[in-house]
Amino acid sequence: PRKIAVVGGGSTYTPELIDGLARLRETLPVTEVALIDPAPERLELVGGLARRILARQGHPAAVVTTGDLQAGVEGADAVLLQLRVGGQAARQQDETWPLECGCVGQETTGAGGLAKALRTVPVVLSIAERVRRAAPDAWIIDFTNPVGIVTRALLQAGHKAVGLCNVAIGLQRKFARLLGVPPAALHLDHVGLNHLTWEFGVRLGGADGEDVLPKLLAEHGDAIADDLRLPRAVLDRLGVVPSYYLRYYYAHDQVVDELRGKPSRAAEVADMERQLLAMYSDPALDTKPGLLARRGGAFYSEAAVALASALLRGAGEVQVVNAYNHGTLPFLPDDAVIEVPAAVGTDGVRPLPVPALDPLYAGLIAHVTAYEELALEAALRGGRDRVVKALLAHPLIGQYAQADALADRLVAHNREHLAWA
Ligand code: G6P
Ligand code: MN
Repeated sequence: PRKIAVVGGGSTYTPELIDGLARLRETLPVTEVALIDPAPERLELVGGLARRILARQGHPAAVVTTGDLQAGVEGADAVLLQLRVGGQAARQQDETWPLECGCVGQETTGAGGLAKALRTVPVVLSIAERVRRAAPDAWIIDFTNPVGIVTRALLQAGHKAVGLCNVAIGLQRKFARLLGVPPAALHLDHVGLNHLTWEFGVRLGGADGEDVLPKLLAEHGDAIADDLRLPRAVLDRLGVVPSYYLRYYYAHDQVVDELRGKPSRAAEVADMERQLLAMYSDPALDTKPGLLARRGGAFYSEAAVALASALLRGAGEVQVVNAYNHGTLPFLPDDAVIEVPAAVGTDGVRPLPVPALDPLYAGLIAHVTAYEELALEAALRGGRDRVVKALLAHPLIGQYAQADALADRLVAHNREHLAWA
């Protein structure tokens, strides 16, 4: 018997995960799914749909819903963390006040991402402590943003944790469609930090396969550039494919202007969530609604199921994860957390070697790593001075006047979530 526990199981995303568990039951046979959430009404709606999705697909797993973390994680083999401290309301703030200072408003990048880290790290660490007591052998799979900083916090505290994001699997799917090959045939040379990655190669048939990235860019460069909302010329100059989060760097001022003129992503998502919950309350619904595909987390179920399977029963499968650097990128500290392909097995994750990086990429990666280290310091120890230091270290901020103004706003908007403020 295998049990998976989901902290934040009342998320509107959960049917995506359940659908993945049902479709990929050979990859990861599960007998119990515990959905844990502090919001009982939401949890019942999501739990009900989860049961109907499994029943429709003839999956035997039991779905347990609970607000009790300890009961929920007891006996779990893997615990998935997918929570959002303060909900979409706090995200709305993260996406708004940085714009007043001419900085990008985003939930993982820049000052908003720092605010999210400060709210989230203490909560995740307290959950992980309780998981360690109730299910000492369980793997913690962290999908909670900002994944790089949260994973570093978990690893530093000695937890059996791996960080996960769907950017790599999303690109793998997209490239496979463009090339007309099955996704599993493509290995991505995906390197960087969470939400700061580039695809340096796209290999057919595995890590040693032929690199078809030049062909992909030559034949489908326009489509890829459109998708990233970057000029084609940028892709041609780089010769690699940045993740869409690099747009916040490569087109920062333009993004700030755009964000100022439209409703926040939090508002859009809150609206989708209202629609989704209304659908979930329909007892006739027993599939994952198409509307979920408009959320950023597409394919996260497949990444999560594959990772859990490899951690619980696999041997050496390669997957993109967030893990300790341990010399992989020689210009970073060993205890930095990086996002790269790694061999995953029951003994954990081991990053594959990465060829030397051009300074164009190494510089930004090192810069953001320094920010992440200071952000984690601020999250663990608190204090306005540490917040200012982290902001000064961020490549998108860096000026003292902005850092001060942003720190004041960050504290003012997050007082109820920050023990020290
Ligand atoms: C992608 C990212 C996640 C992020 C999500 C936001 O999936 O990898 O880290 O949380 O997008 O999606 P949303 O639909 O909430 O904007
Ligand atoms: Mn992500």
